[in-house]
Amino acid sequence: IECAKQMGESSILRQANCRAKGAAPGFKVAILGAAGGIGQPLAMLMKINPLVSVLHLYDVVNSPGVTADISHMDTGAVVRGFLKQEQLASALTGMDLVIIPAGVPRKPGMTRDDLFNINAGIVRTLCEGIAKCCPKAIVNLISNPVNSTVPIAAEVFKKAGTYDPKRLLGVTMLDVVRANTFVAEVLGLDPREVDVPVVGGHAGVTILPLLSQVKPPCSFTPEETEYLTNRIQNGGTEVVEAKAGAGSATLSMAYAAVKFADACLRGIRGDKDVVACAFVDSQVTELPFFATKVRLGPNGAEEVYQLGPLNAYERAGLEKAKKELAESIQKGISFARK
Ligand code: NAD
Ligand code: LMR
Repeated sequence: IECAKQMGESSILRQANCRAKGAAPGFKVAILGAAGGIGQPLAMLMKINPLVSVLHLYDVVNSPGVTADISHMDTGAVVRGFLKQEQLASALTGMDLVIIPAGVPRKPGMTRDDLFNINAGIVRTLCEGIAKCCPKAIVNLISNPVNSTVPIAAEVFKKAGTYDPKRLLGVTMLDVVRANTFVAEVLGLDPREVDVPVVGGHAGVTILPLLSQVKPPCSFTPEETEYLTNRIQNGGTEVVEAKAGAGSATLSMAYAAVKFADACLRGIRGDKDVVACAFVDSQVTELPFFATKVRLGPNGAEEVYQLGPLNAYERAGLEKAKKELAESIQKGISFARK
C-alpha cells in the first residue's frame, strides 16, 4: 500500500485494500532486502505459504516493482511494499517473523568475511529498527558473514534491552539442504529421505556436517567422507564460481530460507517436534554462538540440542571450526560495541 501510494498507482492500492479485507488468518512476515537475488524468489515462495497472512517487502531499491508483481498472485497473503529507510518502521511494526537477506553477495575469489565491511553496517541498521518496532519478532538472519552478523544483531538487541537469545536465528539451512542432496547422491537415495545434521557455523571449515549421524543410518568410506565434507563446506563457492561474477546462491537459498521460515512459523503456531539446524546463542561449546539442531517453538529456539557422539574425523573438524568461529564471532561483537 505504501508503495502504491508513492507510485500513484490506484489500481494496486485498490487491490491491496480489497485483499486486506479478506486476509487469511496467519502470521505477519517481513523480508528486508526483498528486491534482491534471494529476496525476490523468497518473497514469491512466502506469498504461497498458507501460514502467512501479511507479507511486507522492504528494500532500499525496487521494492515497489517486486511488490506490484507478487501482489498479483492469487494466494492468501496480503503483500505490502516499503522503500528506503524512512519506511523501515512501517515495514517492521507488528511483524511476527523478520527474514533478512539484505546485503552484498560474494564474487569469485572472495570469502564471506570480505563482505563484512558493507554488510555489518546494513545488519546493524536493520536490527536497530527491529529493536524499536517489533522487539518480539523472531529474526531469521541470512546476510553474510552469518558467523559475524548474528553476534552483531545480538549486540544491537542487548544495547536496546530487547535481546531474547531464543528469537535470533542465523540461517544455516542451505548447508543442510546441500548436505542432504550430496549425501543422497552418494547413497543413491531420494534427498527427501535423508537428514544430515550440519553444525558449527556458515563459512568454510566452520561448516561441519556430522556424517556419522545421517538418517537413515549408513556408513561412508574415508574417501566418501572427505569428498562429502569438502563439497558441503565449499557448496557456496561452487555456486559463486559457476555464476562467474553474477552473485552467489539465490534460488537454492530462497528455498532453504522458506524451509526454515516455515519451520519457525510452525513453531510459533505451537506444532510439536519442529527441529532444524540454526546458528544461535549456545552453551553447547565454549563459544557464545554455535549452529546445532534446535527445537522451534512459540518463542523461537526453545531448546538447543547437544552435538551427540562424534567420530575422530568430526572431532578434528570441530576443533578447526571452533578456532575460525571464535575469531568471526569476536569480530562481530567488536564492531557492534565500537
Ligand atoms: P543481492 O545483491 O542480489 O540482494 C541484496 C539486496 O539487499 C538488494 O536488493 C539490496 O538493495 C538490498 N539491500 C542493500 N542494503 C540494504 C539495506 N540497508 N536495507 C535493505 N535492503 C538492502 O544479494 P543476494 O544474492 O540476495 O544475497 C544477499 C545476502 O545473503 C548476501 O550477504 C549473501 O552473501 C547472503 N547469503 C547467505 C546465505 C546463507 O546461507 N546464509 C546464502 C546465500 C547468500
Ligand atoms: C552460500 O553458502 O551459498 C552463501 O553463504 C553465499 C556464499 O557466499 O557462498
